[in-house]
Amino acid sequence: MKPRKILDGIYWMGVIDWNRRLFDSLIPLPDGTTYNAYLIKGSEKTVLLDTVEPELSDTLLAQLSGEDKIDYIISHHAEQDHSGTIPKLLKLYKKAIVICSIKAKDLLIEHIGISPERIRTVSNGETISLGDKTLKFVYTPWVHWPETMSTYLIENRILFSCDFFGSHFASSELFAGNDETIYKAAKRYYAEIMMPFRKMIQKNIEVIKALKINYIAPSHGPVYNHPASIISRYEDWIKDDVEKKVIIAYVSMHGSTKEMIDYFVSALEDRGIRYQLFELSGNYDIGKLAMSLVDASTIVIGTPTVNIGPHPNVVNAAYLVNSLRPKLRYSAVIGSYGWSSKAVEQITSIMSNLKLETFDPVYCKGQPGNIQYQKIDSLADKILDKHSKL
Ligand code: FEO
Repeated sequence: MKPRKILDGIYWMGVIDWNRRLFDSLIPLPDGTTYNAYLIKGSEKTVLLDTVEPELSDTLLAQLSGEDKIDYIISHHAEQDHSGTIPKLLKLYKKAIVICSIKAKDLLIEHIGISPERIRTVSNGETISLGDKTLKFVYTPWVHWPETMSTYLIENRILFSCDFFGSHFASSELFAGNDETIYKAAKRYYAEIMMPFRKMIQKNIEVIKALKINYIAPSHGPVYNHPASIISRYEDWIKDDVEKKVIIAYVSMHGSTKEMIDYFVSALEDRGIRYQLFELSGNYDIGKLAMSLVDASTIVIGTPTVNIGPHPNVVNAAYLVNSLRPKLRYSAVIGSYGWSSKAVEQITSIMSNLKLETFDPVYCKGQPGNIQYQKIDSLADKILDKHSKL
């Protein structure tokens, strides 16, 4: 992989990781990913913005082999996939100074062992001149750690945003253009990484929109050369409105829960209610589940009982939903048990972040019968009524 020119004196560097299939030992990467660093050569100073995963550092070091000096290394975010190669670079470039937000300093010391003497913190709005180019630091906290910031290259109107606006999408293309598959990957990335911080992103978007931007250069995925497209999509994802849509996530062991979920799906169809179904017993794609939650109004969990609690796969999914903090409004549990169950209480407790209005659960001992089917019809009616008021 060779450096790629964005504009005169501005280069993409980094790694296109076509083969990575899991991030954080959790997130599926169907399209691989990239770790983007950027080199800006001003008339007086040279700066590198972010680095790459430390085990892939050789690629970045080879790309920099012709560079005699780097004056500054900007660290927008202390997480290792962007900061992890900084220690090697500081050994090679003895005079280089790491520039970061005030909150990032301790994180860089604690996470990757950078010596405090090599770090200079910058305030929100502070500028640094590279000679003929000027960098302005723009605090964009909580995308997705507290210390995250972006850098705005004033003369060329480029925003270097690190994880913010990123996508896990390996491509030989430098620019996103109007490729919808990249915007879909960006939505997946938003759902998996950014959604818990939706309210903070609403504020950050207003800050970003005040800038004149020709390019957004994130640290994962292609560079946006039509930045309005990704900004407008973010505005859609972070708005407070929800869609009239039910997400159903379920497991069945002996068939009772599945029978009720099947009946519930039919009840939704009868009422013209949109839904998306996730069966959780196999290798379902948690990224698709996360994406479904970006705008959905309602979640219904279906679970059998293992001992006295929900099925562990349901626990896992409920924990994930709670962690992602989607803008859901309503929830319900449909389930079954052999002799006793605390599954409803436990699922409600696991999803306590979400402050949902919960409908009465539908539960059966053994096989479902008319009572359960009537309750499911009632549940579908309540969902229809709530949706009609959205
Ligand atoms: Fe791509 Fe939060 O690191």
